[in-house]
Amino acid sequence: MDRRNLDLDTAVAEIERHYVAANPKSRARFEAARDVMPGANTRTTLHYDPFPVTLTRGQGARLSDLDGHEYVDFLGEYTAGLYGHSEPVIVEAIQEALADGLVLGGPNTYEARFAQLMCERFAAVERVRFCNSGTEANLMNLCLARAVSGRPAILVFEGAYHGGVLSFAHGDSPINAPFETVIATYNDLEGTRALIARHAGRLAAVIVEPMVGAGGCIEANPAFLAMLREETAREGIVLIFDEVMTSRLAVGGLHGELGITPDLVSFGKYLGGGVTFGAFGGRADLMAHLDPTSATALAHAGTYNNNVLTMAAGIAGLERVYTREAMTRLNDAGDRLRRELQATATAKGVPLTVAGRGSMMCVHFHPGPIDNPGDAMMAPLPARKLLHLELLLRGFYIARRGFMALCLPLTDTDLAAFREAFAAILTDNRDVLIEAIEKAAGNLR
Ligand SMILES: Cc1ncc(COP(=O)(O)O)c(C=O)c1O
Repeated sequence: MDRRNLDLDTAVAEIERHYVAANPKSRARFEAARDVMPGANTRTTLHYDPFPVTLTRGQGARLSDLDGHEYVDFLGEYTAGLYGHSEPVIVEAIQEALADGLVLGGPNTYEARFAQLMCERFAAVERVRFCNSGTEANLMNLCLARAVSGRPAILVFEGAYHGGVLSFAHGDSPINAPFETVIATYNDLEGTRALIARHAGRLAAVIVEPMVGAGGCIEANPAFLAMLREETAREGIVLIFDEVMTSRLAVGGLHGELGITPDLVSFGKYLGGGVTFGAFGGRADLMAHLDPTSATALAHAGTYNNNVLTMAAGIAGLERVYTREAMTRLNDAGDRLRRELQATATAKGVPLTVAGRGSMMCVHFHPGPIDNPGDAMMAPLPARKLLHLELLLRGFYIARRGFMALCLPLTDTDLAAFREAFAAILTDNRDVLIEAIEKAAGNLR
């Protein structure tokens, strides 16, 4: 529908009316769940207004909801759903593990095989341990760095997300783990160098994503990462790369691709094959502090660390599905899609930026350049809502914030259909979007 004569808020209100009318069962579920869960929610990321659709089923790259709609899944469970919803190799591996029983309560035959696959694949990983989430992987890496260095503080980047208790979207969250933090600006090479020098005596670790994921798929300047490596090595600070999202982007992890070797790496998401997962690892001498055969070992516990479902699914995925060829194909498709979406916007004169790398991308209603999450936050929020609800109504599932992660079962036809829907939405809303983006950008001047 042509919204030439409206402003952005009116256009959003109109699309929201359509959305509410199309989703009565999801709305009813949302209202009822409020009686037992705060905001009907058990994972903040999954809430969006006026209420989220309730998902009932996933098959391949398709999702179904309570009101009978089907979506092509361009969110891929925020990168954890890389294999899609029903990859046969993974389903079979889980069924086999299930047949031999759950919660065994001892070492099993899976875990060392999985560890071997991770050590072979990820350049900086000499030893690895499993846990249950990316948050936990980061907590373990940070705690290990603090224990080994004897220093209390960590350097993080404004806008970074490293987990539910490691969130720096607006500075230090009040419910963060109570680490002493120094907060720097992503891609600010000289500013960060100066902060490291000033706080070196107290810094146990620097933690960084080699491409900011949740904060908007913002690539690091390689010189910025090289500076982090150089300065942390000089000062005896542990350099932690959070590759919970980005390890899918290259064989060797993004750190391997960039040729930078952090001391420790955190993993999560897709590597568990769709089952709950986290892992952390890196330098053998650092990880040796966790060796229980040593008299001075630090304990790393976790009832479900080696649960057989995750172990079996993770092995199957790495060994037989996410091969080098599959990885190249998926990331090439992402690079193509990102360039095409950007070209569509440019051709229509809508000054937005499609940021990202490979199979991860994010639409920012901002002309760019976007060097850090602070830049991304200057975009008008209603524009995100408009794109999100428009795409849902057209049968495409992405995150409210414009984030997308491709999954393996997406086809060329799915990608073409998405491009068409995106182009149609920009055509229908061109004037209101341009006006809102320019206004937001003008407010900055
Ligand atoms: C970069 C990064 N680190 C850590 C996490 C936390 O992982 P989990 O949700 O498994 O705790 C996330 C989750 O989105 C993430 O994107």
